[in-house]
Amino acid sequence: MNLNVVILAAGKGSRMKSKLPKVLQPLAKKPLLSHVLDTSFNVSATKVIVVYGHGGDLVQSTIKASYPEAPIVWVEQKEQLGTGHAVQQALSELEPGSKTLILYGDVPLVSKESLETFIEDTEETGCGVLTVKLDNPKGYGRILRDESYHVTSIVEEKDATDAEKLVQEVNTGIMLVNSDLLTEWLPTLKNENAQGEYYLTDIIKIAREAHINVNATVISDPMEVEGVNDKRQLAALERQYQRSLADQLMVAGATLIDPNRIDVRGSLSVSADCFIDVNCVFEGQVSLGENVQIGPNCLLINSTIGDNTVIKANTVIEDANISDSCDIGPYARIRPGTEMKSGAKVGNFVETKKSVIGEGSKVNHLTYVGDAELGKDVNVGAGTITCNYDGVNKSKTIIGDGAFIGSNSSLVAPVEIGAGATIGAGSTISKDAEAEKLTLTRAKQMTVAGWKRPTKK
Ligand code: UD1
Ligand code: CA
Repeated sequence: MNLNVVILAAGKGSRMKSKLPKVLQPLAKKPLLSHVLDTSFNVSATKVIVVYGHGGDLVQSTIKASYPEAPIVWVEQKEQLGTGHAVQQALSELEPGSKTLILYGDVPLVSKESLETFIEDTEETGCGVLTVKLDNPKGYGRILRDESYHVTSIVEEKDATDAEKLVQEVNTGIMLVNSDLLTEWLPTLKNENAQGEYYLTDIIKIAREAHINVNATVISDPMEVEGVNDKRQLAALERQYQRSLADQLMVAGATLIDPNRIDVRGSLSVSADCFIDVNCVFEGQVSLGENVQIGPNCLLINSTIGDNTVIKANTVIEDANISDSCDIGPYARIRPGTEMKSGAKVGNFVETKKSVIGEGSKVNHLTYVGDAELGKDVNVGAGTITCNYDGVNKSKTIIGDGAFIGSNSSLVAPVEIGAGATIGAGSTISKDAEAEKLTLTRAKQMTVAGWKRPTKK
């Protein structure tokens, strides 16, 4: 049976106090709705229908940009008349004979595993609800059951009697119903209730009247079904989520000095004996080899770090490929297109971009290396600049194996420094420098006889 997913995302989210629609608010740098979409595709939905209302244009353009090929259908709910009314807008899009999973655009963290269990549990009856037991169930729809523990209905907080309000099992909002049943039931909903809304939850009673047993799968981790209505809840969920990611990293063998002070906004893979100090942020796809050591306050984006590499405090690395046993920072900026080969070293206040730093080469202090290729065992002195840009074109600097670049040199690209060459400190090199030779450009030093320093009167 094909699985269709209907994501309810028409709510205005006014409590966010933001121009950005609620479902585009970021959790771990990804829109809430994208979390739900990713999970939908992970449970193999053949079609995903998003019911939108407020801010629809921005929601659609943002999502279309990150899922250009995905089978997402957009359905507008012009007036928000309730969750039942919202799902009704999607009915004509459901594939006949399919089953429909209803998710919320502002409940981002429900896991693939929980949904798979729920789908399996509901297989037999064709109608199910995902529930959770809460110490404080206030505000949620309560799950009502009969003496034989069968679910009979869901009652909203505002419609509940005092006795019903004591029930701690609540509706997460996530439901699974055979599409054909949904198509039959939804048009019969009435809005005669405390909120004057068409409640999706009323279909549970309808199912019982049709002698269909309603499956209720109880989820164990409340974080998975927590919704986001304001910035405080967004921040709280972000912390919970980050903490759960930190736990996964520690289970995988990483040492985190403080699991409350790490942020992963994407996917981070770690290996045995990785060590991560406080306040490190990882974005996109980052992978760390064995025994990688990362100092405090580092930002790593879309990069691969090889075994035994040490990254010291306050280093930023983006779109880079770092090999094993490298030594980076503190305060290094490794920009996109940097490749560091085994044992290479980049020290403090060094910026690299689109460059290869060869095996065992050292760029230790205060240097800019852009559009350059450094061979093996090169030593670049402090204050060296590759002048790669003439205002229009970018050009390359090539430095051969074993070359030694004296401090404060400018290498005006395109230029090639031969293997084993030495460049005298303070040189401006605009022509190729021969291998194994000393090349320098330097005004002759002189001493002015009889010169007197001015004195204050
Ligand atoms: C709903 C459930 C309640 C459940 C709770 C879980 C109903 C009647 N109640 O209550 O049992 O415990 O969720 O959080 O279903 N939406 C639309 N269009 C609408 C109305 C809502 O798209 O016309 C969307 C909202 O954007 C939101 C979701 O549906 O993502 C839930 O709506 P909300 O108003 O928050 O429902 P609750 O009253 O909290
Ligand atoms: Ca809600």
